[in-house]
Amino acid sequence: AKPMRRKIIIDTDPGQDDAVAILLALGSPAEIEVLGIVAVAGNVGLKQNARNALQVVELSGRTDIAVHAGCEGPMRRKLVTAEYVHGKTGLDGPTLPEPKIRLREQHGVDFIIETIRREPAKTVTLCALGPLTNVAMALVKAPDICERVQEIVLMGGGLFEGGNITPAAEFNIYVDPEAADVAFHSGMPITQAPLDLTHSMLTTRARIERFRGLGNRTGTATAEMLEFFERFDEQKYGWDGGPLHDPVVIAYLLKPELFQGRHVNVAIETGSELTRGMTVVDYWGVTGRTRNVNYLRSGDADGFYELLFERLATLA
Ligand code: RIB
Ligand code: CA
Repeated sequence: AKPMRRKIIIDTDPGQDDAVAILLALGSPAEIEVLGIVAVAGNVGLKQNARNALQVVELSGRTDIAVHAGCEGPMRRKLVTAEYVHGKTGLDGPTLPEPKIRLREQHGVDFIIETIRREPAKTVTLCALGPLTNVAMALVKAPDICERVQEIVLMGGGLFEGGNITPAAEFNIYVDPEAADVAFHSGMPITQAPLDLTHSMLTTRARIERFRGLGNRTGTATAEMLEFFERFDEQKYGWDGGPLHDPVVIAYLLKPELFQGRHVNVAIETGSELTRGMTVVDYWGVTGRTRNVNYLRSGDADGFYELLFERLATLA
């Protein structure tokens, strides 16, 4: 039987890779219903991330999608942004028109709470593509949503690949470790897409040319986004292309068979400055701690990109 259509909320800090994740979701209406998009402070400031989200939704042609702004910054720490990766606007690469659609009035955290309370229990999936501030604040403000959410699928953390903003920490977790700690302790079902997985999903020249060749404005803009976005990691790692992190979260919902993982305990470092934001992954089960995470360790890169080409081709 056809699997139920997934209802999702995307919490995001666009970011070129976030943008491709949003496009993949919007290009898959038969399998995914996007209930709304919530911006969070991360790659760049909240207002700019929210504006970027409006531009991506408009690029897709799906202008019916609600976009909300969430929290201005981390729960306790000073906001750290990543213009050095994503450019001054956070979405450098293409020249996208001024967004005509506007942000919804309601705060993103309240939108998350209200939506999860309104929809039938266990039918809403949270897709977190940035720091977990909005997710944690929603859990603190409305602990009842923990039981109601179907699962959270998030991009963040890592073990075997180390960190990407410090030797120990990946950016999304590093920016708001306290928020990650709240989410990872919440008891919500968690699927984690770490750097160990996303570092094998490289853009490469051939794949960028495939996006450019889709023949629609979405494909052209995606090629331009990725050509800008990949340059930092290409120089840093010496790879052919950069790791396309966030779309893995959506690809997992569409084709979980593309990925391999295992249930393990993951805990978050919030005390040490040296290892702040590290996801301490008990991959070999040595602690006996609760196995709170479905940890995705590897995936089929070609299958992932074929899915992206296929779905983005259906957009404007
Ligand atoms: O470390 C990669 C993550 O940080 C991705 O979500 C990227 O968009 C940035 O937010
Ligand atoms: Ca992101």
